[in-house]
Parts: sequence; structure tokens; C-alpha cells
Amino acid sequence: MKFFIDTANVDEVRKAEEMGVICGVTTNPSLIAKEGRDFVEVIKEIASIVDGPISGEVKATTVDAKGMIAEGREIAKIHPNMIVKIPMTVEGLKAVKVLSAEGIKTNVTLIFSANQALLAARAGATYVSPFLGRLDDISTPGIDLIKTIAEIFCIYEIKTEIIAASVRNPIHITDCALAGADIATVPYSVIEVCTKHPLTDQGIEKFQKDYRAVFGE
Ligand code: E4P
Repeated sequence: MKFFIDTANVDEVRKAEEMGVICGVTTNPSLIAKEGRDFVEVIKEIASIVDGPISGEVKATTVDAKGMIAEGREIAKIHPNMIVKIPMTVEGLKAVKVLSAEGIKTNVTLIFSANQALLAARAGATYVSPFLGRLDDISTPGIDLIKTIAEIFCIYEIKTEIIAASVRNPIHITDCALAGADIATVPYSVIEVCTKHPLTDQGIEKFQKDYRAVFGE
């Protein structure tokens, strides 16, 4: 399983990139709004840091296929690594069909059922983004959805990649890896938590103490 970072904050993108663990970035309208900066400016800055797929979503207020197609073409022009993120609706699928026929890569977002994922894949999506955490939030195990989609895509040899989204904690990450997600898109705070273990910290402290006792600083 590969990692993308789920943020529109360039400092977080830079920190994760320097760690060497991420190979892509996902943004969404809420993450862009949180930064309060111009969409194109933020995306260009992210693209100068990470050499991998960068998902930029069509405007949250654009709901018709025609509008999504026009915006998708503009997003694709920002940088060769751009992936156009499109919501899972009938209009969204129509837009995916047209954009993918033009060679523009897409990420169908807000996937909450296996059938939605299968339809998005058949419409030509490069990626599907099932939302794990938001399902957990309503007492439905999100990981079951990731497993089911992975199984279906495997049976039919579907090339669309599964991005496990709405990842909230380290257990989600291990579960997604076991469930067969191709990618997990993870907030910076969760990546950082995953680097830590109390025994690692204790081990470093003991090595430093033992070393200093004999060799000093
Ligand atoms: C990424 O593609 C999604 O937009 C994001 O992971 C959603 O996460 P959230 O449910 O924590 O907002």
C-alpha cells in the first residue's frame, strides 16, 4: 500500500515529502477552504514539492456534468500530475466518462458503497476514494467497504486504484493495508503518530545514556 497525504497545507506536504513516505497528495474543498488561499496557487506550490498524482476537486457548487467537465479540463492544465476529483453522482459519472476519454485522470470521491465504486470504475475512473472514517462515524465499519471493493476489483481485474480516504488513526492504516487498498491518503498528524512507539523512544534514550556514559557527548 502506498501513501498520499490528505491536505492542502504546503508545510505539511513538505514535511511528509522530506520523510520520503508519500508519493501523492489529495485535497478536497474543505481542505482548500481551510487554507484560505487561491486554489491554483496552492496546487502549483504542492506540485513543486511532490512529483506524483495530486487530486484537485471540482468546485463544490458545480453539480452538472458540463460544468465539471469544463472545470476538470482547467484543473488538468495546471500540472501534468493533476487528477480531477469528482463527486460520486450521475452527473459526476458522465463527467468521468468524458474526461477519461480525453486522457484526463480522475478520482471519484465520496464513495460509500461497493456499487458506487464499481460504477465509477466502469465509467473510467483512475481512482476511487471510499471514505472509511465517515462510515465508522455512523457505526458502519468502513474497513468492510474497502475489503469488498478490493475483492470485486480483484475478481474482475479492474485497474482502477483504491484510495482509502477519511483515514483517521493508525489502526485504519494497518487495516487498509490488509484489506487491499492500493493507497491510503492520510492527514499529516496521523502519519506522524504512526512514526512513534514508546519502546522506540525508550530505546533511543537508553542508547544515548549508555553511549554518553563511556564516550561523553
Ligand atoms: C480525501 O480524498 C477525502 O476528501 C478526505 O480523506 C476526507 O476525510 P474526512 O472524512 O476526515 O474529512
